Amino acid sequence: MKQSWWRSAYNQNHLVFKLGISILFVGFGFRLLLTQSPSVIPNLSDNNINTPVVDKNEKSIPSDFAESPKYSYQIHPKDDKSERCDIFDGEWIPNSVGAPYTNNSCRWIESNQNCMTNGRPDAEYLYWRWSPKDCELPRFDAKKFLETMRDKSWAFIGDSITRNHLQSFICVLSQVEDAIELFHDTDFKNRKWQFPSYNLTVSIIWSPFLAKADTFEDINHIPSAEIQLHVDVLDKTWTEQFHTWDYVLFSSGKWFVRTAIYYENNTILGCHGCQGKNHTDLGFNIAYQKVINNLFDFIMNSHRKSMIIYRTSTPDHFENGSWSNGGTCDRRVPAKEGEFELGILNKILREVELAEFAKAEAQASEKGKKLKLLDVMPLSLVRPDGHPGAYRYFYPFAKDKNAKVQYDCLHWCLPGPIDQWNDLLMKLVVDG
Ligand SMILES: *[C@@H]1O[C@H](CO)[C@@H](O)[C@H](O)[C@H]1NC(C)=O
Ligand SMILES: *[C@@H]1O[C@H](CO)[C@@H](O)[C@H](O)[C@H]1NC(C)=O
Ligand SMILES: *[C@@H]1O[C@H](CO)[C@@H](O)[C@H](O)[C@H]1NC(C)=O
Ligand SMILES: *[C@@H]1O[C@H](CO)[C@@H](O)[C@H](O)[C@H]1NC(C)=O
Ligand SMILES: *[C@@H]1O[C@H](CO)[C@@H](O)[C@H](O)[C@H]1NC(C)=O
Ligand SMILES: *[C@@H]1O[C@H](CO)[C@@H](O)[C@H](O)[C@H]1NC(C)=O
Repeated sequence: MKQSWWRSAYNQNHLVFKLGISILFVGFGFRLLLTQSPSVIPNLSDNNINTPVVDKNEKSIPSDFAESPKYSYQIHPKDDKSERCDIFDGEWIPNSVGAPYTNNSCRWIESNQNCMTNGRPDAEYLYWRWSPKDCELPRFDAKKFLETMRDKSWAFIGDSITRNHLQSFICVLSQVEDAIELFHDTDFKNRKWQFPSYNLTVSIIWSPFLAKADTFEDINHIPSAEIQLHVDVLDKTWTEQFHTWDYVLFSSGKWFVRTAIYYENNTILGCHGCQGKNHTDLGFNIAYQKVINNLFDFIMNSHRKSMIIYRTSTPDHFENGSWSNGGTCDRRVPAKEGEFELGILNKILREVELAEFAKAEAQASEKGKKLKLLDVMPLSLVRPDGHPGAYRYFYPFAKDKNAKVQYDCLHWCLPGPIDQWNDLLMKLVVDG
């Protein structure tokens, strides 16, 4: 097997972060103009991530940023007792069995990701199956999963992609028994469901940085000041509840590329992208590294014997532009391997995730902690067809087939390719 670039580490290079910053500012114009709706499926408005441009046109990686392993680690460590199969190394193959649910059979799909209801005309994106090279990946067995998870509690903690995945998870399970919503906060960012016959609870916790962060936005969600991120303080929204959960899935990433002032021990450490201010620009990798490092320290020192899953961050697929300047994603089928490269910002995020996970994993076995990496990046990179695109809105071209529409090439259609993240999850936690 050829050595994939993501399997090796590379040098950190300051130049890259400067480049990152300039890319970042491109995303600033993007705003959502959604109003809060009282319906069961809320219109949420946190999607205005200043997303980096990460597309295949962005190939200008400085040469000294290329593969030069400073340290190496195993990304997908093999479980001694299981067969030698890396479930994250594979390809998408045609599959006549389509989605595990539809917009009609799941009532928990957020309107911006409900591509079926919004009138997405094609369906071929639903007819692919992730096929690991060395083994079969069974489809998610909701009945078996629920039986296994009787009396258990799950939490998904992270950003809007985490919520996207959570909704897929609730949808696949609700094909056996519909979930009851036990709790939601005013803006539906923190919620809790129960599968009553199984006494399984599933929570979603909004914590895009996983750490303490103050964000400042006006009523139109336009940032009015830089984010103040405390890299040494984990977000108590989740730490205070951590002891109540049996399975915790963390993920983060994209929010770290935003302009922010970094604090450590309540004093300013530096910043990322804060031009005009007299702070050292540290690059966002420092902040992400410190936060994930603290996260794993917290887990290692906790008395709670939960299973912890870290999901890697995912790429977006804007082509011919970005969020704010007309980027699109009109593909109908998966990309070929190598057709899309991970953009530089996503590479940086990934580098940090993998390095920190590897360190934590070395400690986990000593400390008797259960830690799993849900590495969805490789299989997501080749699914440019899986995003809502224009169909984040209800029939966007109904009135004018040439309408200029804001595309979403970052989140994922539901149903859609990310439903199979649950197949991987099942393999990791139930059949692993
Ligand atoms: C979302 O918001 C739009 C515009 O405010 C509204 O027309 C639509 O019905 C809302 N959808 C849901 C599911 O609340
Ligand atoms: C599901 O989508 C189809 C179009 O694909 C639409 O006809 C139907 O009304 C939608 N169902 C719901 C519950 O929105
Ligand atoms: C449901 O599960 C919780 C643990 O998550 C347990 O404390 C509780 O007793 C269970 N309830 C029933 C009715 O079994
Ligand atoms: C944090 O700041 C306090 C006082 O401001 C100081 O006493 C302490 O040593 C600092 N801790 C660290 C880890 O820097
Ligand atoms: C920037 O910070 C340095 C060192 O703290 C200080 O010497 C300098 O005067 C500051 N410049 C401005 C414009 O505040
Ligand atoms: C990008 O733009 C070029 C030139 O306008 C066009 O030929 C190409 O099809 C576009 N690609 C996508 C993916 O829209």
